[in-house]
Amino acid sequence: MLLQVNDLNISYKEVRAVHGVSFSIEEGELVSIIGANGAGKTSILNALIGLVPCGRQSSIFFSGKDITSLPSHERARKGIRIVPERARVFPRLTVYENLLTGIYGLRAKVDLKERLEWLYGFFPVLEERREQYSHTLSGGEQQQLAIARALISEPKVLLVDEISMGLMPLLVEKVFEILGDLNRKFGITILIVEQNALASLRISNRAYVLEAGRIVMKGNASMLIQDKRIREAYLGI
Ligand SMILES: Nc1ncnc2c1ncn2[C@@H]1O[C@H](COP(=O)(O)OP(=O)(O)OP(=O)(O)O)[C@@H](O)[C@H]1O
Ligand SMILES: [Mg+2]
Repeated sequence: MLLQVNDLNISYKEVRAVHGVSFSIEEGELVSIIGANGAGKTSILNALIGLVPCGRQSSIFFSGKDITSLPSHERARKGIRIVPERARVFPRLTVYENLLTGIYGLRAKVDLKERLEWLYGFFPVLEERREQYSHTLSGGEQQQLAIARALISEPKVLLVDEISMGLMPLLVEKVFEILGDLNRKFGITILIVEQNALASLRISNRAYVLEAGRIVMKGNASMLIQDKRIREAYLGI
């Protein structure tokens, strides 16, 4: 297992947001956690990158090593990278400067020129807008920049928080197609958390359904997409 999460509990003061959530991801998989507003999706990703603490009995293993108490920057160095909710890029930096922040502090050196060429192949608009300030990019372009910034470091696992938010349907399709390609053609392991169940299930191998901080269903994405409860609750069918 590349990532193994056991009995994850997350509380904010007296409010318990995530209750005993366990899941795992194998190398090369694309896995989704689908859930509605407030289900606990962002909390789970923030616990994975070390931004929020988890309960005492919770544990997180990455590549077989216990990382539960490692600080965020150490986890990033191990190859855990996030595309944050609302694609928070640095607004006062240019597109190019934002991309560079993705490799800042890395121990292993990446071949920057080769890496940028690879990324610009996926996201041609980022090459066109290289010198543009990031706050002047459209929402969809900022999403692409956030993905590219996470990818520039050659992550071992890419965590993607609600990438569909605020994008028009055509762009949602494009961004998910890119995530699917990154997984299938380049073997990048991806964990997506999403409200857009259909778009994420379509490209996933497996998925977990999160409701009010608990996993209530799990299975192959192709199976979940057919499930009557999922279709009614998340696909509006
Ligand atoms: N810093 C915080 N302080 C207090 N409560 C919080 C905090 N962050 C999240 N919560 C609560 O934890 C619960 C889960 O929030 P979380 O952001 O993880 O949900 P989500 O599934 O990402 O939702 P969304 O789809 O709206 O982004 C919510 O009830 C939220 O109000
Ligand atoms: Mg969220």
